[in-house]
Amino acid sequence: MDTMEWTKIVGGLCGSLLVFLLIQWGTESIYHGSDHTDHGEHYASQKLDNNSETTELDESTEIPFIELVMSGDSAKGKKVFGKCKSCHKLADGENGIGPHLFKIIDRDVASVPDFDYSNALLEIAGKWDQESLANFLSNPKKYAAGTKMNFSGLKKAKDRANLVKFLEENSN
Ligand code: HEC
Repeated sequence: MDTMEWTKIVGGLCGSLLVFLLIQWGTESIYHGSDHTDHGEHYASQKLDNNSETTELDESTEIPFIELVMSGDSAKGKKVFGKCKSCHKLADGENGIGPHLFKIIDRDVASVPDFDYSNALLEIAGKWDQESLANFLSNPKKYAAGTKMNFSGLKKAKDRANLVKFLEENSN
């Protein structure tokens, strides 16, 4: 073999190596391209997952009030009742600035005979149950516009639940 032949062989080898490298580069960039889309989709679905997770969380944080009462702490409720004491007594018949709260859960609204209720309260039909009582206490002036009860309200659902539990256990 002479130099000319060697050059051809080496040249050919180099040529096929170059073709090989080009093909490899080509497939790699295609592969990379598709990898990117994959990644994008993956990311998108992950985002969706995250979204659905937060919705689930939001739903589970909204605990029904009845359950809050069931898991409530009446000792803490007694402390909350400290805010009511200046106007309300729990003993039957003992009215103060407000009507007594004896057996207040399931008691007809505005039904203490010798108490001078406002029309706002007299116009409310039905009984005080756990939920209506808690709604009234969260913002009395909103629940019964024109009420004489001069109390801004219990803003925390936990406080209302603990108080309702306390009233249930201690007002009968
Ligand atoms: C500043 C005095 C005052 C405070 C404090 C107060 N109340 Fe009253 N409450 C009243 C008055 C007055 C009424 C009568 C309202 C009316 O006739 O409009 C009333 C009415 C009520 C009623 C309706 C009773 C019925 O017979 O229908 C409930 C229940 C009640 N209060 C619970 C509470 C609780 C629980 C608290 C504490 C978280 C509280 N109140 C704090 C003065 C007060």
